[in-house]
Amino acid sequence: MPNSLIIAIDGPSGSGKSSVSRAVATELGLDYLDTGSMYRAMTWFIQELGIDVNDAQMVAKSAKADLIQPSIDPSEPGIRVAGRDVSLEIRGPEVTQGVSAVSAVPEVRSLMVNLQREIASNSKPGIVVEGRDICAVVLPEAPVRLFITADPDARANRRAKENGAEVTTTQADLEKRDLADSTRAVSPLEIAPGARVIDTTYMELSEVIAQVVDIARAANG
Ligand code: DC
Repeated sequence: MPNSLIIAIDGPSGSGKSSVSRAVATELGLDYLDTGSMYRAMTWFIQELGIDVNDAQMVAKSAKADLIQPSIDPSEPGIRVAGRDVSLEIRGPEVTQGVSAVSAVPEVRSLMVNLQREIASNSKPGIVVEGRDICAVVLPEAPVRLFITADPDARANRRAKENGAEVTTTQADLEKRDLADSTRAVSPLEIAPGARVIDTTYMELSEVIAQVVDIARAANG
């Protein structure tokens, strides 16, 4: 793909946005950044220090951007904290339960947003960046800005299947996180003005990928 294309993708958990983002990056030869993994890695670091994730002051004081080292290779996504690979740890229940509190801390967000912008602007081939505030805050000038969603039942079913977990518990967990993420004061999860909404409830993953690839190609001339 000519020019370094930037594709910004937001959406709630279980919407399929990660699978779509990775696949689109692979198909178009672009880099890929999972910003949720950065907030998760920061949460892991805070918990590893023994700090209570609800102690916003301590979280703000302890957060350091240069510790967080995400991979931008869509074929090998993962993340390191000060060189240690924590790709598995950040998917565990402790981090999942703590991440909404950590990602609501303004100092954490500003560190992560700066790092995300730096990674995107240094990307040679272009990049797919996925998260919650990418279209509105991180990369509002991105030529492709999408909001990928699905109804809550579909999202819970997909997440439960992914994690081999129970649907009811997953759904409760998801709803709790959705509520925390969409009602926080700084950069709540919302559809950014001008972002194109793709509802994947009744779509196969392959259809969503094809649609996003078409949109990206059209945007890139
Ligand atoms: O996409 P995920 O479930 O891995 O995201 C983990 C958490 O990080 C989620 O609860 C919301 C938060 N997050 C955020 O606040 N901003 C982003 N750009 C990405 C994720």
